[in-house]
Amino acid sequence: MRNAFPAWVAIAILAATPATWAAQSSSARHKIPRQALDATAAPTTMAALAKAMPVTAKHAMVVSAQHLASQVGVDILKQGGNAVDAAVAVGYALAVVHPCCGNIGGGGFMVVHLANGRNLFLDFREKAPLKATPTMYQDASGNVIPGKSTGSYLGVGVPGTVMGMDAALKKYGSMPLQQVIAPAIKLARDGFVLQQGDINILNERVKDFAKYPNVAATFLNHGKPYVVGDRLRQPQLAHTLELIEKGGARAFYRGSIARKVVAASQAQGGILSMKDFADYSVTWDKPVSCDYHGYTIVSDPPPSSGGTTICQILQILKPYPLAQWGYGSVNSVHTMIEAERRAFADRNTYLGDPAFVKNPIDKLLSPQHVAAMRATIKPDKATPSSEIKGSLGPVEGTNTTDYSVVDQHGNAVAVTYTINYLFGVGQIAGDTGFFLNNEMDDFTSKPGVPNSFGLVQGRINQIEPGKRPLSSMSPTIVLRDGKLFMVTGSPGGSTIISTTLESFLNVAEFGMNMQQAVDAPRLHEQWLPDQVFVEPGLLTAAAQRKLEGMGHHFKAVKSWGADEAILVNPETGLLEGANDRRRPAGLAAGY
Ligand code: GLY
Repeated sequence: MRNAFPAWVAIAILAATPATWAAQSSSARHKIPRQALDATAAPTTMAALAKAMPVTAKHAMVVSAQHLASQVGVDILKQGGNAVDAAVAVGYALAVVHPCCGNIGGGGFMVVHLANGRNLFLDFREKAPLKATPTMYQDASGNVIPGKSTGSYLGVGVPGTVMGMDAALKKYGSMPLQQVIAPAIKLARDGFVLQQGDINILNERVKDFAKYPNVAATFLNHGKPYVVGDRLRQPQLAHTLELIEKGGARAFYRGSIARKVVAASQAQGGILSMKDFADYSVTWDKPVSCDYHGYTIVSDPPPSSGGTTICQILQILKPYPLAQWGYGSVNSVHTMIEAERRAFADRNTYLGDPAFVKNPIDKLLSPQHVAAMRATIKPDKATPSSEIKGSLGPVEGTNTTDYSVVDQHGNAVAVTYTINYLFGVGQIAGDTGFFLNNEMDDFTSKPGVPNSFGLVQGRINQIEPGKRPLSSMSPTIVLRDGKLFMVTGSPGGSTIISTTLESFLNVAEFGMNMQQAVDAPRLHEQWLPDQVFVEPGLLTAAAQRKLEGMGHHFKAVKSWGADEAILVNPETGLLEGANDRRRPAGLAAGY
């Protein structure tokens, strides 16, 4: 917290004119993918933001996108479980109460900071099926066929979540699987009462639920959309979770669950096989880390681009006086856009699954290299994205949800896992009860052709059998002087990187508390398209005009992401939890 006095608060209240709010419209939304959006979010006002306060707790804290899942995590911690026990319990609970995004039909990443100082990274990202090919989404003329990677069984990657949860619990948990999965089974079997935040998310794809009888049977109420106060029961999912409770990961990867997914895939033109499930594996690795003014960022290495890209942006930004310039100021916004533009060009050019490609992370983050990148930023002019190429030259050779847990011992866990779109591919295999992912769309369907997040990626992320698609998921832990400072992360596809970055900068540079930092309006720039997404309230009309005069192109978007963060306040020692206002079903809870 370099800037102890949040001067931005007073300035921003004065600056937030009605015209700024009016600038965004629903038609502006179509350019950012639906799965990155949360239509439930009301724009914040700067006056509301000034008053936003985190939930505080003395011992332990859980923040997730659904209040019942957060409560499950707190209960496990109160029963004596550690942060990993709670993270696994929350992971399974979200699979029930946050079915759009919490998942056993997808995959993700976990970053762990142990109280003894060790930092760990667990990769349980989906893998491409063994029959996948680089051109599987193209027609005979080489054109990408719309919807093939997102709306069909060909878009489904081999799920990793069940093995990820199993690996984390076996290595660092202290409780048996039966204890941590029990609350999820109960929530699925007994059902839970839907609140407005839950309904808003269901409504995002309610029309699609009617397309498949097995989906409609659970996610429509006798053919009609659920409304607030209805109880959502998921007996089929309860049965699947009971199979996992009894048989562990084996039940999922070698038993009837895999057989049902493979049968449904084969019946509907997919390519998943029992061998895909039997061969699936998870990986423990070293996190990517970097320093920023006394903070250490501990984040995700490839196959996530998150840690590398966040670190590269921060290294570019390091010498600039962001705190002095202030949140939303022309100079801060210009510099952040330019740093993101350059880092995303590198992301899309050089990063991929480390089991298949060499990721030049040391080079990308070396101080000399970052200084050279920084030197290309003009203080008063935007650099068109068309003039930016990957900074290392040609390549050599060849809705999601996030949650954070801190326990009473000082262990911390950050998890982001996903089925990609809200409700993934929109299909459930037979009576398994869980939505399957459409994560294959995160690959490069064809070099130079944008995926559904608009990311224009290269050959390095091309589809290959058994490969993991490059991700932007960035569950991140920040240390200060070696001690736990922040746990943060978000859903939102490519916007995850800027959302996670900004939640940190808003505290470290702009003097916000944790709640303000996740609630504050955001910006996002990803190299291509040459367009900066902004949430209402970030820019005054005057600041926007000035930045446009410098060559920046803005697209107003109502909202995106859902940062679920915890801060250890160095002054009080208290844990400060912040559920993102954009995901009102969520909760920060502690004791
Ligand atoms: N599916 C979004 C991501 O992993 O980046």
